[in-house]
Amino acid sequence: MNRMFGDRKLGARSVDEITGSRRLRRMRKADWSRRLVQENRLSVDDLIWPIFVIEGENRREEIAAMPGVYRLTLDLAVKEVEEAAKLGIPAIATFPNIALERRDETGSHILDADNILNKASRAIRDAVPEIGIITDAALDPFTSHGHDGILRDGIIVNDETVAQIAEAAVLQAANGADVVAPSDMMDGRVGAIRDALDANGFQDVAIMSYATKFASAFYGPYREAVGTAGLLKGDKKTYYIDHANSDEAVREAEQDLAEGADMIMVKPGLPYLDIIRRLKDEFAVPTFAYQVSGEYAMIKAAGANGWIDAEKAMHESLLCLKRAGCDGILTYFAPDVARLLKAD
Ligand code: PBG
Repeated sequence: MNRMFGDRKLGARSVDEITGSRRLRRMRKADWSRRLVQENRLSVDDLIWPIFVIEGENRREEIAAMPGVYRLTLDLAVKEVEEAAKLGIPAIATFPNIALERRDETGSHILDADNILNKASRAIRDAVPEIGIITDAALDPFTSHGHDGILRDGIIVNDETVAQIAEAAVLQAANGADVVAPSDMMDGRVGAIRDALDANGFQDVAIMSYATKFASAFYGPYREAVGTAGLLKGDKKTYYIDHANSDEAVREAEQDLAEGADMIMVKPGLPYLDIIRRLKDEFAVPTFAYQVSGEYAMIKAAGANGWIDAEKAMHESLLCLKRAGCDGILTYFAPDVARLLKAD
C-alpha cells in the first residue's frame, strides 16, 4: 500500500519495509549510545611527538610552514619534553637542524657522538627518564645535498650508506636512544642496524622502520624545519616508494620485518590509509603512521583561515589513522591532542 507523507509520496514501500526495520540511526540518537558503540578511540598512549632540536641556548625558532612548531635548543626542548611526559605522551622522536658548515657530501657529522641528536638523547634521558626516545637514523639533516644517502656521481649509493647508518645507530643507542628509526629506505638497513646493535650489546634497543616511506609532496614543511629545502637537488624517487604502489609497500614491510624490525611505520599518514590497513591485516605487528608536516600544515592553514575547525580536524584525522589499523601515530599535534583528551 502506498503511504503518504504530507503531500509527498514515498513510493511503493514504507521505510520499514525497505530496511526490514533495521535502522542504523537508532544507536546514533544520543551521546550515550554513540559512546557505547564507538569502535575506536584515540588515547594519549597512541602518541609519539616529533621535535626539532638545534645547538645553542634559550632559542626557539619559528618554522613558517608549521605554525605552533619550533626548533628548540636543548634547554627548552628538555622542558617541553618534561611537559609532554606529564601529559602522558609515551615517546618523542628527535630531528636535528644542523649548522650548514657541519654538513658534507657524506653526512659524516652523524658519526659524531656530540652531534645535537646524541646530545639531545643524553639531556632528555637524564631529565625525563620515563619517556621513550626515538632517534632518526638518516643522513638527510647531515648531508650538504639533503639526500638520505651518500651521493656519488649522481647516485645515492646504497651499501656505503647502510654501513654508515648502522654505525650511527649504535652511537645513538650508546647515547640513550630506546628506539632507532631508519627513515632512509636503503635496502638492507634494518638487518644491518640489528646486527650492529646486537654486536655492541644493544639487544634491548628496538627498531621502528620507516618501512613504507613514499615519495611525497607532503614533506615540504619538514624540509624547511631541518633546513634541507634549499639544498635538495632532484627528488627521492630512487629510494622512496612510488606513491602509486601498494604491493611494493607490502614487500618493503615484509622485508623489514624479516630483517628484524620491531615496529613498522607508514609515511605519510592520511593519504595512505589503505596501506596501513593492508599492512596491519597482513602482518599483525605494531604499526604506526607518521602524520607528516604537510598534513599538519594543511590542517593548521585551513584552520587559520577559518575554513575548517582545526581542533576537530586534528582529532578526526588521528582517530581515522587508528581506525585504519595504527597502534600509534607520530604527530606534531601530540601535546595539543593530549591536552584535548585530558580536558574531555
Ligand atoms: C627524511 C625525512 C623526511 C621526513 C622525516 N625524515 C622526508 C624528507 O625530507 O624527504 C618527513 C617528516 C615530515 O614531513 O613531517 N629522512
